[in-house]
Amino acid sequence: MKERACITFYRQYLFFLISKPFFFWLVVNDKDSILTLQLLPIQLTPMTHSQSFTVTQPTRIQFGVGSISNLGRTVQDFNGTNVFLVIDPGLVKAGIVNQITAPLEAAAIPYTLYDHVDPEPGLKLADKGYKLAKTNGCDCVIGAGGGSAMDVAKAVAILLTNGGKAADYLGLDKIPKAGAPKIMVPTSAGTGAEVTFTAVFINEKTGSKGGMNGAPLYPEAAILDPALTLSLPPRVTAFTGIDALTHALEAYTSTQAHTISEMYSLEAIDLISRNLPKAFANGANLEARSAMLMGSLLGGKALATAGVGLVHAMAYPMGGMFGIAHGLANAVLLPYVIEYNLIGNLEKFATLAAVLGKKTDDMTTREAAERCVEALFELNADVGIPATLQDLDIPDDQIPEMARIALTVTRPVENNPRQPTLDDVINIYQMAYDGNSSIFY
Ligand SMILES: [Fe+2]
Repeated sequence: MKERACITFYRQYLFFLISKPFFFWLVVNDKDSILTLQLLPIQLTPMTHSQSFTVTQPTRIQFGVGSISNLGRTVQDFNGTNVFLVIDPGLVKAGIVNQITAPLEAAAIPYTLYDHVDPEPGLKLADKGYKLAKTNGCDCVIGAGGGSAMDVAKAVAILLTNGGKAADYLGLDKIPKAGAPKIMVPTSAGTGAEVTFTAVFINEKTGSKGGMNGAPLYPEAAILDPALTLSLPPRVTAFTGIDALTHALEAYTSTQAHTISEMYSLEAIDLISRNLPKAFANGANLEARSAMLMGSLLGGKALATAGVGLVHAMAYPMGGMFGIAHGLANAVLLPYVIEYNLIGNLEKFATLAAVLGKKTDDMTTREAAERCVEALFELNADVGIPATLQDLDIPDDQIPEMARIALTVTRPVENNPRQPTLDDVINIYQMAYDGNSSIFY
């Protein structure tokens, strides 16, 4: 049994933890029923006067098996009387739409079903949804499914009060007014979109991927019912789970990281790394599904306040140019980008290696940090993630263009602990294409 951080201790001593620039994380080894305690060094951003950040987390969260039964009451709490329900087609396929609609029907709340969402939604989907919602007089929007359904729901809610076209609100803080009430019901453990202020779309005109970002996009409420994630196929469980891990990990090492975001990140990384293989191996494992849904929620909280990094910037062109699912693109790139990032914050990557279950006693900080890359390759292999870009049929002559686009995704690039040049990004893509993971040593 791997030695693992004792989260209970972590929670109980939160005050102690956040008051220290460096602290120790208690590890419990319950092998042979004998508890032994070990202390691991954990790297946090020093609590100095130079820390400066804003945390806005307005979303009401309801978590637990069966919590979906509260959906009708939640709509009423936010004065919704006529719901626009954006549904992931995956839920239709899995035959579980009735689990979302039943509580609305029980509360006698009328709804319009919108289930035309693509895995990589275009702006037109939001515009079409808005038209339908307006025609039907909807005053509350629910997004049920993966990140795409939630992103479309967020955009429709914004359009209902602001008018215009979805493209008008791309960028940062371009949304003048609060949207209609938005309630998110994630049915995969991945994006954390239920607590973020972002909605990402493909711009059909340019082929590029871009986001709306602004406080009005924060959902008013999120209902997280782990039972709704039980039907997620292993492949999607893997993609979305590594996406959630990437959020937590990139937020932890972000240049914008701070004491609060790091708390979310560390707990998310611990939960996801221990439970993703279990949820992948047996989708009916409700405990693992619960832990994954909590992990993706915390990853979303971390990214909402500290941002993501170069993995996300480099994954965007893979989605925009070749239609590679967001989680899959992140998953394949993750160990290669982290290998490149190591020297940007060796101490934090050494911490991550321990949180990911690696024994790092008696190692130098650099040796320990390198174990983080190893752990990520192992986790990817456990859950069937392809090892290279070649496996995804991406033509390598497109790498320079992908690198050019990746560097235009400015905020994640700025957040990255190592600032990349165009040549660096080309090299990372090439390493990921060839499956070469030692070029930066
Ligand atoms: Fe992501």
